[in-house]
Amino acid sequence: MSDPVSLTSMVARARGATAAEARACAVTPRKVFVHTFGCQMNDADSARMVELLGRYAFSVTPHPEDADLILLNTCAVREKAEQKLLSALGRYREHKARRGALLAVGGCVAQQEKDRLLARVPYLDFVFGPDNIAKLPEMIERARRERFAETGWMASEEYLFPRADPQAARGRATAFVTAMKGCDNVCSFCIVPYTRGREISRPFTEIEEECAALAEVGVREVTLIGQNVNSYAGGCDFPTLLRRVAALPMLARVRFTTSHPHDLSDALVETFRHEPRVMPHFHLPVQSGSDPVLLRMRRDYTVEEYMGRFEKLRAARPGMAITTDFIVGFPGETDEDFERSLQLLERARFDNSFSFVYSPRPHTGAARRLGSAPEWSEIPRAVSIARLERLQTTQRRISSEAMARELHKTVEVLVEGALDGEERRRFGRTPENRVVHLDADEAQAPAGVRLAVRVTRAHANSLSGEIVGPA
Ligand code: SAM
Ligand code: SF4
Ligand code: F3S
Repeated sequence: MSDPVSLTSMVARARGATAAEARACAVTPRKVFVHTFGCQMNDADSARMVELLGRYAFSVTPHPEDADLILLNTCAVREKAEQKLLSALGRYREHKARRGALLAVGGCVAQQEKDRLLARVPYLDFVFGPDNIAKLPEMIERARRERFAETGWMASEEYLFPRADPQAARGRATAFVTAMKGCDNVCSFCIVPYTRGREISRPFTEIEEECAALAEVGVREVTLIGQNVNSYAGGCDFPTLLRRVAALPMLARVRFTTSHPHDLSDALVETFRHEPRVMPHFHLPVQSGSDPVLLRMRRDYTVEEYMGRFEKLRAARPGMAITTDFIVGFPGETDEDFERSLQLLERARFDNSFSFVYSPRPHTGAARRLGSAPEWSEIPRAVSIARLERLQTTQRRISSEAMARELHKTVEVLVEGALDGEERRRFGRTPENRVVHLDADEAQAPAGVRLAVRVTRAHANSLSGEIVGPA
């Protein structure tokens, strides 16, 4: 009879692992708990890690106290995100002590801090950057012998995008599909180019194949993801990629995120005019309504250039929802600069915006210059918080007005699933990405079905509606 070690190797081999990988991770069946911080890139990476570990007899547990491996996939975009990691590590420390679980940190803080994180957190077993996910099985083995940080970059020509397991998406209406990684821009506030490396686009054939496989198992909406996805160059340009994916049979909806306004080409605007399966929602981060601030941010557009692209989008697809990001309290931001951000909010009437207080990040141009000249002066925290509150209050009013305009309309909703685990409450999204709550059970509103829904109530961030029939 096989011992548990070789049995697990055989299981891993049977599930598609190479002989070397299977040897590297010859363990008894185990449980992994994953805590994901940050953006969709991290969500997608965590999903790939779980799929990879599944080939080595790991199953996912939602309870860290049951886990043999606790993985934290981290975000470094603001200091607060880093603090969240440190407090989470404190919580998981006792699970590690009680059960002897391995504790590992991946993602953007891992890439930024490297072995400094091992020195700071003595009970941490290993640290790995986003380019090292494929080595996870070997790293788990290695962690039995030593503590280490694996944060090298893979060369562009060797980079292999991990492929999603379509079976893991069975029963789901929507899925993220990675289109590219990294970022070649140099926005002076942003750490992402340092934590995710240079831009690499995934070949379009791989993207098409993954989307087609997802559609086969019932996924109806894909979101193509990348930090700067409209600079995609994986054998075709981004508008062509969108059209190819939109042409796949059985996929009803295509979305993408996130985009730099600089790369919003006329061809992309035209795709919105001609391709109805590309959903009418565009997240177009502006960051500030003041040109001198945009210049110091190295965003490479003026407010008028931004608005020119914004208006072309709205003209190409009337009713399109446009959302954005703002940073307040960027170094040297005057009251007048901030008023311009408020004016832009009123002028563009964004459907929603995400706003943040500037957080100085290591390596970045703005953090290096902070305090070096009057135009780089540090903004007192209380001033930044007051600005954030004004911006968010104004946005809440504008968003509520936009939602109220949906009242009594009949909208198309792609059902995604149960709302907060409740049996008789379901939710889905409109083409514009508005969340709609339904009083219905799974039989009336199964995941993946598109329904015509009459909007009966409008809230600040969601709608409620009743089912009229199939869309
Ligand atoms: N790639 C996107 C783009 O070009 O706009 C942005 C991605 S970033 C992960 C998401 C948002 O975080 C940014 O749009 C920005 O508003 C915010 N952000 C990034 N760095 C920040 C910092 N140092 N302080 C505060 N907010 C920041
Ligand atoms: Fe960061 Fe700018 Fe790249 Fe967006 S485009 S990820 S804000 S450097
Ligand atoms: Fe955060 Fe890294 Fe995404 S810094 S926002 S997890 S790319």
